[in-house]
Amino acid sequence: MKVVILKDADSVAQYGASVFVKQVKAKSDSVLGLATGSTPVKLYKKLIEEYRSGNLSFKEVVSFNLDEYMGLSGDHPQSYRYFMNAQLFNYIDIDKRNTFVPCGNAENPFSACEQYETAIKNSGGIDLQLLGIGRNGHIGFNEPSSSLASRTRVKTLTKETIDDNARFFKPGEFQPSLSITMGIGTILESKRILMLATGDSKAEAVKAMVEGPLTAACPASVLQLHQHVDLVLDSAAASLLKNCDMYRHIEEQNKLLLERIF
Ligand code: F6R
Repeated sequence: MKVVILKDADSVAQYGASVFVKQVKAKSDSVLGLATGSTPVKLYKKLIEEYRSGNLSFKEVVSFNLDEYMGLSGDHPQSYRYFMNAQLFNYIDIDKRNTFVPCGNAENPFSACEQYETAIKNSGGIDLQLLGIGRNGHIGFNEPSSSLASRTRVKTLTKETIDDNARFFKPGEFQPSLSITMGIGTILESKRILMLATGDSKAEAVKAMVEGPLTAACPASVLQLHQHVDLVLDSAAASLLKNCDMYRHIEEQNKLLLERIF
């Protein structure tokens, strides 16, 4: 796992956007795995800027989102489909027919999960998956104790996640306690993973993920098994890591190596 520690959330978004830009420039029909929540918003803004400046096109891109609330239709302002349209898809040239978000109001959610898995497989698999991390170490909505081999499925949200996400809902508004999420096994099949984490509320989870044991108690720790993960942190999210100096040293050495090769 490559651990990159930057000074603030803006630098994290800039770094993350540059990974996406390189990916889409190298493969115009990339299959992108996308996330919602607060963390990726700045990154999406930067991708919109890249598109508007004429530097990048998403015409051939296919995307799959990690998760969706169960019980919300795609036109509900709190749904993740709505979020993706409002934060990214409405402002770039992606073909919305090629943007997939699990269906929160499917008549049969279980077969919707199977169809989602099939659609990912038929697309050739995810080239680059963006992840955030929950305070409890969740990825997607794979809460602690999720099977590390799980596939797309219906998942109950923990009280902690419901409380964390309550900030997006108005007082008294229906807030789902179930979701459909890509499984951990599904996420692990992505060719490359980019996780962003910012702010001190993520410091404990980041520490457990990077320097703790591989355990379903911290689902994100499973990324220790993946061959190509970039974890990009601001200094607050990195503040509890024991080996910060080592990660910074490795990054400097990597930069020197790349300068020598290219
Ligand atoms: C969102 C998702 C979640 C979030 C995580 C962090 O699609 O899958 O795992 O990435 O809850 O959320 P924020 O970024 O709001 O702190």
